[in-house]
Amino acid sequence: MHLSLDSNTAQSRMSLRQLDMTAVTSSPAQRQFCLPHGFVGRLVGWYMSRENRHMNQLAVEWLDVQEADDVLEIGFGPGHGLELLLTTTPARTVSGIDPSTEMAEQALYRNRVAAEASRLWVVVGAVEAMPFPDEQFSRVVAVSNFHVWRSRSAGLQEIRRVMRTGGKLVICLRRALDNPWPWSSPGLSLDTLREDQELLVSHGFQDVQFATRKHRRRSCCLVATC
Ligand SMILES: C[S@@+](CC[C@H](N)C(=O)[O-])C[C@H]1O[C@@H](n2cnc3c(N)ncnc32)[C@H](O)[C@@H]1O
Repeated sequence: MHLSLDSNTAQSRMSLRQLDMTAVTSSPAQRQFCLPHGFVGRLVGWYMSRENRHMNQLAVEWLDVQEADDVLEIGFGPGHGLELLLTTTPARTVSGIDPSTEMAEQALYRNRVAAEASRLWVVVGAVEAMPFPDEQFSRVVAVSNFHVWRSRSAGLQEIRRVMRTGGKLVICLRRALDNPWPWSSPGLSLDTLREDQELLVSHGFQDVQFATRKHRRRSCCLVATC
């Protein structure tokens, strides 16, 4: 079986080196979740597959993919979201972009049948400078990575460029518990989520709303129209 990354791999490895995650995170452990790399990064990938399962399900539900949709996932990590898009939706095409080569390899392995059948395209690169033509996608999704982008503003501008007018964007985030335990996984406050909502509006997205499910209250999606 031959699995290969997109031809942008070499160029994207360069952008991987250029990404300075120390700007947004402090500890080495946090940096592994923001940009998994090396052997530990691979382990983190398998952990994220379990930990973010509900967020990925919620995001794909809200994306509401139809048969004519070309879907892009940003920051796909170990590829569980891509798997859901490929197996539970009628998407015409599924593409993904992530700066971590380890995650790209894991995602390709997890979705090897679709990759071999050319139903899946995976690019190693960052949301702030995507190698896709204008208006290629009608659905864009990002799960648990909006706050680790080097520049949310540049990322949102790029998303608008690659999206068709009327397309749907879903950004899924983890909410903080109101009264967290010391061992609770981290999350975002309501104030931060409101700031994110305003950021989307200021970048030209419309009908920007919060969406969740009662039994998955810690997973929160920002759903917007391009
Ligand atoms: C916490 S993981 C989430 C992975 C996956 N979405 C999930 O739910 O399991 C964050 C992912 O975002 C990716 N990432 C970090 N910075 C990025 C950027 N600027 N553009 C695109 N993806 C990025 C990381 O490489 C990592 O795979």
